[in-house]
Amino acid sequence: MATHQLGRTSFGDPKNTGNLMPIEEAHSILNEWVPNERLRLHMKQVAAVMKAWAIEKENADEQTALKWELAGLLHDADWEKFPDDHCRIIIEELEKRNIDSEVIRCIASHGPGYFGVEPITSMEKMIYAFDELSGFIHAAALIRPTRYEGLEVKSILKRLKTPSFAAQVSREDIADALSRISTTQEELIQFIIDHQKEVI
Ligand SMILES: [Fe+2]
Repeated sequence: MATHQLGRTSFGDPKNTGNLMPIEEAHSILNEWVPNERLRLHMKQVAAVMKAWAIEKENADEQTALKWELAGLLHDADWEKFPDDHCRIIIEELEKRNIDSEVIRCIASHGPGYFGVEPITSMEKMIYAFDELSGFIHAAALIRPTRYEGLEVKSILKRLKTPSFAAQVSREDIADALSRISTTQEELIQFIIDHQKEVI
């Protein structure tokens, strides 16, 4: 069985600090690498909540907010075409492009159990916390006639306790990610509902 362990914990080159790419360029990578529209939407949703969190909760400046957004947008870029080498390919691509190591390490830490990279910074902890929960909330919205309209935190909490609903979403990962941040589960769910509903 393929292992996704990256076997390293340091990424990129510190001399590339501040070297980002325009968000449009990240969208072109997405369009080229990710034919699956649902997966692209998932990445756009994670990008939207990451950017919003940076601005609203971390008082991030424009450059920092872009870092958060880029990490969110690209975190699953290689998942569809290179499932056996997921994370490794996009990391190598961003290293080749001399992208800021904080963005690359953030992507590498979005699944500590899979990639073996512990989230340390706030940006790293939040991508881990948002990833599964964002997809779960979207799945819950999709089965409602009014989608996000009127979607309540308590209904998400109830579905999380129903193992058969979106069974592929790891409740364990969600709980582990939450244990690493000071935000409550309720607060995080509300934030995601509020910020990803407009993403198309
Ligand atoms: Fe993801």
